[in-house]
Amino acid sequence: MALSNILRKHLPWTQEPLIINAPMSGAAASELAIAVTLAGGLGQIGFMNNIQSLSKQLESARRGLQGVTKILPNPQVLPIGLGIIVFGSAVEEWISLFAQYKPAVVWLSFASADEFGAWTEGIRRASPDTKVWVQVGSVTAAVAVAEACHPDALVLQGSDAGGHGHKDGANVISLIPEVADVLREHGINDIPLVAAGGIVDGRGSAAALVLGASGVVMGTRFLAATETRVPDAYRDAIFNAWDGASTTVRSRVFDAIWGPNFWPIAYDGRCLRNKVYEEHQKGIAVDRIRAWHYGAMREGGTEPLEARDVVGIWAGTGVGLVKTLANAGDIVREVREDTKTRLSTAACLCNPIRVQGSP
Ligand SMILES: Cc1cc2nc3c(=O)[nH]c(=O)nc-3n(C[C@H](O)[C@H](O)[C@H](O)COP(=O)(O)O)c2cc1C
Repeated sequence: MALSNILRKHLPWTQEPLIINAPMSGAAASELAIAVTLAGGLGQIGFMNNIQSLSKQLESARRGLQGVTKILPNPQVLPIGLGIIVFGSAVEEWISLFAQYKPAVVWLSFASADEFGAWTEGIRRASPDTKVWVQVGSVTAAVAVAEACHPDALVLQGSDAGGHGHKDGANVISLIPEVADVLREHGINDIPLVAAGGIVDGRGSAAALVLGASGVVMGTRFLAATETRVPDAYRDAIFNAWDGASTTVRSRVFDAIWGPNFWPIAYDGRCLRNKVYEEHQKGIAVDRIRAWHYGAMREGGTEPLEARDVVGIWAGTGVGLVKTLANAGDIVREVREDTKTRLSTAACLCNPIRVQGSP
């Protein structure tokens, strides 16, 4: 079976090409997941390190998606994905949530292949109809994860991605084809690949599909959705940014600024450049920057600070193409239709109309 057909079978309400919102912790809650799923995409809820809060979001998604659920071949399955940040958590704590809500997808990220293996086993035991997707950022990680737990899809996160990711990453343009080739060499032909990182419109989405992806994840683009939970100042910073190559940067300082950095050493994150990063680049020790940062944030601070200096604005290199507020459903439909147009236009390049009289 073609790999994209496997995803269609797993997610029967979705339309081609498959558009997915990233499970952005703190920003992607039930409103966004509902809107994306209702538009024929895979809507996802981001991780919350608290079972009660996540249950509330899943309950709200269940209510909002009753119309979709009842026409599914298996109406027990909740037609959304749920993101889990794996490091620092034990699967046993979350089993009851998977068993109760049976999300169509549980998306795992940021851990070792062995940890993903234990989680995959636990999820499949608790909710056999739930599909397990694992996000990775290198060929080595993709092969290790495929062999450790044979996920139902691998999300290949390129280095252009906003938010946390592999410190030593590669762009999707080489990551997707190399992972496909190397998996095939290992005799693994049945895991669909999904692209993430730097994709914000139909052009990027069409390119990802041509590279071999069976679906497309967007995080930064959905920061512009009305249903995404971000403060106005955060969204304005996204709309005002351009040239992601110079306005965004990957660093671990964006986590270290808040206190001890608990993130495993393999990961950093891409944010808009800010004062914290600039000071760090000058060689100033993180505790000195932290003291300034907390001081400046305190009410009555004397320095005028931009949102990017205070909270850290996670965003990918595609940020310069994200300009207007829109409903999530409209974003899904626009990117889906534009992807098809771009693919048709590209196909025409192979069949140029011959000018009469030319050889
Ligand atoms: C604000 C924000 C929060 C994110 N939070 C998570 C998260 O909680 N879990 C996760 O696996 N990925 C997270 N990511 C990364 C996304 O899953 C995805 O790889 C990325 O958004 C794709 O790149 P793009 O932002 O260029 O579309 C986040 C990304 C952003 C922009």
